[in-house]
Amino acid sequence: MDKLLIQGGVPLSGEVRISGAKNAALPILCAGLLSADTLTLSNVPHLRDITTMLTLLGQMGLYVTVDEKMGVAMNGANIDKREAPYEMVKTMRASILVLGPLVARFGEARVSLPGGCAIGSRPVDLHIKGLQAMGAHIDIEHGYIVARAERLKGARIFMDMVSVTGTENLMMAACLADGETVIENAAREPEVVDLAQCLVSMGAQISGAGTDVIRIRGVEKLHGANHRIMPDRIETGTYLCAAAATGGEIRLINTSAAYLDSVIDKLMDAGCDISSEKSPNHEAIILRAPKKLSAVSIRTSPYPAFPTDMQAQFMAINAVASGTAIIRETIFENRFMHAVELQRLGANIRIDGNQAVIEGVAKLTGATVMATDLRASASLVIAGLVAEGETLIDRIYHLDRGYECIEEKLSQLGARIKRVH
Ligand code: EPZ
Repeated sequence: MDKLLIQGGVPLSGEVRISGAKNAALPILCAGLLSADTLTLSNVPHLRDITTMLTLLGQMGLYVTVDEKMGVAMNGANIDKREAPYEMVKTMRASILVLGPLVARFGEARVSLPGGCAIGSRPVDLHIKGLQAMGAHIDIEHGYIVARAERLKGARIFMDMVSVTGTENLMMAACLADGETVIENAAREPEVVDLAQCLVSMGAQISGAGTDVIRIRGVEKLHGANHRIMPDRIETGTYLCAAAATGGEIRLINTSAAYLDSVIDKLMDAGCDISSEKSPNHEAIILRAPKKLSAVSIRTSPYPAFPTDMQAQFMAINAVASGTAIIRETIFENRFMHAVELQRLGANIRIDGNQAVIEGVAKLTGATVMATDLRASASLVIAGLVAEGETLIDRIYHLDRGYECIEEKLSQLGARIKRVH
């Protein structure tokens, strides 16, 4: 099993290119199921989760070609298997995103229930409830969601909780339903907007994406299109935190500050100087860190508030900031597993339910730690970059799911990091 070996203490400096957004690419790949034509995607990130999704879609009969620049072309003319088996779904929960497209286009789907994961139980009841509202008959049989529908009908759906993939699944299903669907209390994440823009380029009729009310007027069929995946705002935020924690100065390209207001505000409160450069076909974000960060408290909430996917990274920077920070996690019930690992590096963190109190310490010291989930792994990398001495991070397959070439990109910024087998 691969591990990452980090020698801490080097302020990051230089320029790094941000990849396409994992959480935009995953639903957009599933949109390929909605059309018998060819959907061509660019700026697709080279990640384990993307490979897993392409494998699943290929097994269903989607004709997929990938070029050397990770450009992806998918043709949905011959989808002969409308199933997502447990073996695939258990390795990647986002497989649930094939459900809406399959029911909408073929009137049937058999998708394994994702089951829980490290950060929480993560039910999919809202996905199911929304499809039932559109007329799908859904049974749960032997751990599988078995869905059937003549043709989905437009419906008014109120989401009890803001759900990113729930909104995405139902928006895709509604594209081919008969009549209009209104999704209320919809997720407003930028990745939902990117998916909507891709669907509209395929001929879907969608308005309101990015607000909490999305209207979709169903059409008979969708055609092919070309779409460029948006930049990964969480990867962007992660590198900003790494530079902030190490007292460095970095420039991120192929990304945008547009979707990171809450994160950038907090990094500025912590004492960082952040600016962005904009030109017609280029945007970059520059961060200059202070000598010593000031502690910043955060409370995770749905977009546009502070993203839960940046919570672990901020716990790492608060570990070495001056002062006390309070982090409140309101989205997932078990997303503090990085805390005990950070404590092994010398962090002073007290967990009380969904609240963590972090007292900044003068320094962290290297140790062997274990990654538990994707963003927890990122927080351990940030802490390892700061800690005195050597940090060895185990189970970094979690990292490879969501960060493209992380050790290469960090090495470009001067980090002393290498992958050991
Ligand atoms: C998406 O997960 C992201 N994944 C997650 O990113 C992200 O943390 C999360 O949104 C929140 O922003 C992808 O986009 C592939 P939710 P998702 O449905 O859609 C509850 C990462 O690190 N809920 O918005 O699964 C749920 O339990 C990953 O890249 C229900 O109760 O999250 C949670 O408490 C981790 N019933 C809350 O809603 C449902 O049917 C938000 O979950 C659905 C969700």
